[in-house]
This record gives sequence, C-alpha cells and structure tokens, in this order.
Amino acid sequence: MPEVIWIIGATEGIGEALARAWASQGARLILSARSSEKLDRLIAELGSQHIAIPLDVGKRSTIAAAADQISRIGPLDRIIHLAALYDPGKVAEIDPDKAAEIVNVNLTGSFHIAQIAPPLLKKGGQLALCGSVAGYIGLPQGQIYSASKAGVINLAQTLRSELAGTIDVRLISPGFVETRLTQRNDFTMPAIITPQKAADAIIKGLKSRLFEVHFPRRFTYILKVISVLPYWASLPLLRRLTR
Ligand SMILES: NC(=O)c1ccc[n+]([C@@H]2O[C@H](COP(=O)([O-])OP(=O)(O)OC[C@H]3O[C@@H](n4cnc5c(N)ncnc54)[C@H](OP(=O)(O)O)[C@@H]3O)[C@@H](O)[C@H]2O)c1
Repeated sequence: MPEVIWIIGATEGIGEALARAWASQGARLILSARSSEKLDRLIAELGSQHIAIPLDVGKRSTIAAAADQISRIGPLDRIIHLAALYDPGKVAEIDPDKAAEIVNVNLTGSFHIAQIAPPLLKKGGQLALCGSVAGYIGLPQGQIYSASKAGVINLAQTLRSELAGTIDVRLISPGFVETRLTQRNDFTMPAIITPQKAADAIIKGLKSRLFEVHFPRRFTYILKVISVLPYWASLPLLRRLTR
C-alpha cells in the first residue's frame, strides 16, 4: 500500500522538493498551500493520483474544511507542515502588521494544525512541524520569524509528550536552504543547500526514530553548541557567523 502523505506548504522550496521526491517513491500525496494555480500545476506534473487542497494556515476555517475533505479519503501515514512566512530586516524597520501576520501563520498556524490534524492520522502516524535553526537562538535579522520558530520548537516538544503513544510527533530544523524564502537574505548564508538535498535529509530523518530532523549537520551542530554557551560568548559569535 502506498503511503498517504499530506504536505502543507507544498508549492515552493522544500515542500515542493519533498512532494517530487515522495511522488517518485510511489507515495499518494495531498498537497496544500494558498495558491490553487500552483497546486494544480504541480498535480498535473506529478499525476492525478495526488490531490490538491488549497488552504491558508493563517485561517483556521480553511484548515478545518481541508481536514473534513481529507477525513473522507482515509487515515494518513504522515502530515508534514512546512508553510511559513519570512520577512528579514531589523526590528525597528519591520512593518507591525507584517510581523503579526508572520506570528499568525508560523506559530498560530502550527497550533491550528497541531489541534486539527492528529485525528486524520492512523495510529502511530507522523506529524512533523517545521522549526528552524533560527529558533535555537536569535540570529541577526531573524527578528519575529526566529521568535515564531522558537515557539514552533517549543510546541513540537510539548506535543511529543502529550501525544506519545498515539502519534509520532517530529520536529524538522533546516539550516539555510536555497528557496524563495532565503532569496531575500542579503548576507552570506553558511552551508546553504538545495531544496532537493533538504528533501532527502527530511525523508531519511523521518524514517529514523529521532525526534528532531536537522540538517545540514555541519552547520546545525555549530548552532546547537553556540545556543548552549553563555550569552557573553554566543552572541558575538553569531554576529560573526552571519556577517
Ligand atoms: N529556506 C530555508 O533556508 C529555511 C531555513 C529554516 C527553516 N525553513 C522552514 O522550512 C519551511 C519551508 O520553507 P521554504 O524555504 O521552502 O519556503 P518557501 O519556498 O517560501 O515555501 C513556503 C511554502 O508555504 C506555502 N505557504 C506560505 N504561507 C502559507 C499559508 N499562510 N498557508 C498555506 N501555505 C502557505 C507557500 O505557498 P503559497 O505562497 O502558495 O501559500 C509555499 O508552498 C518553512 O517552515 C521555513 O520556515 C526554511
């Protein structure tokens, strides 16, 4: 039986690469994002065994409507929630409405998925939320995005305990990946990888038993070590790393 996988944030970047990789391995996909045109184009390429369900994770009613539709398809093996917004810049320069939207989509959206999605999974099925190494410790210009990702990490840790024994909660923590999101960065991004490499790391990591799937490890381990240092040591180091 092919795995049935719901990817939220599937039309661009890491989500699109994951959809292509899983489709080539024979999985049956339910693909979601806001743009129905892009979803339809992707389904036309990947095959009519896959389904497009447009939604906006910032609007709970659209996730509930998608869940209702999916509940009629049958239990899922995995739900991978990747949708997020990013707007780099210094805190003083950021538009407050945009900042509120980032928190609503990235953090509150993950909360909505965490509440609505578990009943759609078969027993022992997998729910993966997407954090970021930016959530380990505040990076220069990471501003409200990093703060929202720190919240997602915390939410995933809580869910891992609360849902233990019923579903398999995972955390995905990418380093820098070449996507629409990082095109807006005006600094050198250490150890940046392609979306295809990110998708391979996610597929491999989700097959393991580890809670966190983090990559590329040559970068994520450095940030993990920095994040446990005292602030007098970690903050100057980060400034230098991301200059
Ligand atoms: N790229 C990196 O270096 C990097 C690093 C660390 C973590 N991450 C995380 O990895 C995940 C994927 O990032 P990416 O770089 O692949 O981003 P991306 O290229 O911008 O793709 C984001 C995807 O999410 C969808 N999306 C955005 N807002 C949405 C909303 N409100 N409702 C539903 N779908 C929405 C987008 O489609 P529509 O616009 O059509 O909705 C798109 O399919 C994100 O959680 C990001 O924070 C990325």
